[in-house]
Amino acid sequence: MSEYKEFHGHVFYRRMSHARPMLSHGEGIYLVDAEGKRYIDASGGPVLVNIGYGVSEVIQAMTDQATAAAYLHATMFTTQALEEYSAALAEVTPLENPRFFYLGSGSEAVETAIKFARQVQVDRGETQRYLVISRWHSYHGTTLGALAVSGRPSLRQLYQPMMVQTPPISSHPTAIAAPLT
Ligand SMILES: Cc1ncc(COP(=O)(O)O)c(C=O)c1O
Repeated sequence: MSEYKEFHGHVFYRRMSHARPMLSHGEGIYLVDAEGKRYIDASGGPVLVNIGYGVSEVIQAMTDQATAAAYLHATMFTTQALEEYSAALAEVTPLENPRFFYLGSGSEAVETAIKFARQVQVDRGETQRYLVISRWHSYHGTTLGALAVSGRPSLRQLYQPMMVQTPPISSHPTAIAAPLT
């Protein structure tokens, strides 16, 4: 079965409006469905599968770490793999003595960037600074904080009363401001 059309299972999909192919596996730039149909994933998913699917070194590293310990709470432990990866990343990052904060998704990264920005201002003694300027029509995630700095009306509408208000600027370079609704 390549398309899971009936929605008779127990998965709450992000969108229930369309059927989706049943994935078998990925290989390089291809995704392969359960019937063997191959799809070129030209965008690498949402622009994040940058090295392709099924890279054996990555699979081995994930297997090694999951075998050693599949979960560690970041407030309690570090691992050799994390330290070595961070050291390798530091070598190619154009910053002096960078440090990396690891998260599991883009939405979490945006949430954390917002909180970091606030923390920097508080540490500077500028406690009155809390506004984040966002761009109309931008997209930065679906959690409430990330959504509050995104400018997509269709995604924001339902949660509008719950969101932190952020001053928006238009995505058009010559416009100054427009109300985000
Ligand atoms: C700029 C940007 N921020 C945040 C996200 C949200 O990422 P995630 O779906 O991993 O939460 C995306 C995902 O497409 C993104 O492109």
